[in-house]
Amino acid sequence: MSRVTDITCAWRIPAAVGRAIDSRQPQRAAPRTRRRRRGSEPPVATPHTAPGSPGASLAGRVALVTGGATKIGQGVVEALAAQGAAVVVADIDDDALATLPPGVDAQHADVTDDDALAALVAGCLARHGRLDVVVNLAATYLDDGATTSRSDWLRGLDVNLVSAARLVELARGPLAAHGTGAVVNVTSISSSVAQTGRWVYPVSKAALVQLTRLQALDLAGDGIRVNSVSPGWTWSHVIEEASAGDLAHADDVASAFHMLGRLGRPREVGEVVAFLASDRASVVTGADWAADGGYSALGPEQRTPAIPLLAPDRTTAP
Ligand SMILES: NC(=O)c1ccc[n+]([C@@H]2O[C@H](COP(=O)([O-])OP(=O)(O)OC[C@H]3O[C@@H](n4cnc5c(N)ncnc54)[C@H](O)[C@@H]3O)[C@@H](O)[C@H]2O)c1
Repeated sequence: MSRVTDITCAWRIPAAVGRAIDSRQPQRAAPRTRRRRRGSEPPVATPHTAPGSPGASLAGRVALVTGGATKIGQGVVEALAAQGAAVVVADIDDDALATLPPGVDAQHADVTDDDALAALVAGCLARHGRLDVVVNLAATYLDDGATTSRSDWLRGLDVNLVSAARLVELARGPLAAHGTGAVVNVTSISSSVAQTGRWVYPVSKAALVQLTRLQALDLAGDGIRVNSVSPGWTWSHVIEEASAGDLAHADDVASAFHMLGRLGRPREVGEVVAFLASDRASVVTGADWAADGGYSALGPEQRTPAIPLLAPDRTTAP
């Protein structure tokens, strides 16, 4: 399955999500973020730590990030590197791999191929001497909802779920070797809500949350912590394509159902991943961390007071 095919499938999602958004339009306009110039970045705090500095929590550690060549992946790579980790990225998108910053060890590897995963782990050890952190981020949005074929179901689950199980098992020895092992599975708000027209992706992410708990339990004895991070809508290739590159518009659309009134940024997701990968999270395992701007904590009333709508003259939408 090529990236192009996956992206094509992803294009169906914004249409479906768009319908969901239409049905979610609040009866009164939700508070909006101030309109920004197209493509301009809003101020978002990103902690900076010099690699190898005393504050760097991953100095001397080696991290492997699957799917790390994409936008969100690069946010994760930057955050890990900022904490001093040497980062290996595994992806099938050679063009995107070529855009990774110097110093990142970019490797072509298909996460659905066990031999490729074994070679990836062996390569980490050969080139970097150890492997401390695995981030399972590679994913496909392949999903036709109810009409998804069996082969597409199996493909979606293979990429999004089974690969995370296989890679962690193949990396278990090195992860246990120094008492510093940490796994972060990148899941999604889609793991816990119903989204019209999508069955495979949300199911795969829900299963990945549960796999996280199971891995955490069975690997605790090896000193390996396993957690997941569930982003909300995050600036990514899929959202960039759906919004024709208009970040401000994408923020506006997201504002109704994210408490922070905007999309997440790749580096913000990366910071949560880097925290969970580090000893600063030494007591955290088996947990799913929302990196979603408050999406999952927001109820159907969204950001607009609903009780005033009970007044007789307010029962119909304007
Ligand atoms: N975009 C969002 O708003 C959002 C929201 C919640 C969660 N997420 C999660 O964040 C992660 C990144 O999402 P994204 O939108 O940047 O996705 P994306 O499609 O842009 O990136 C996925 C990456 O995985 C790689 N990949 C796919 N199949 C692979 C395979 N078989 N082997 C190796 N690499 C493979 C792709 O080449 C790509 O680089 C995913 O796990 C996704 O589920 C994204």
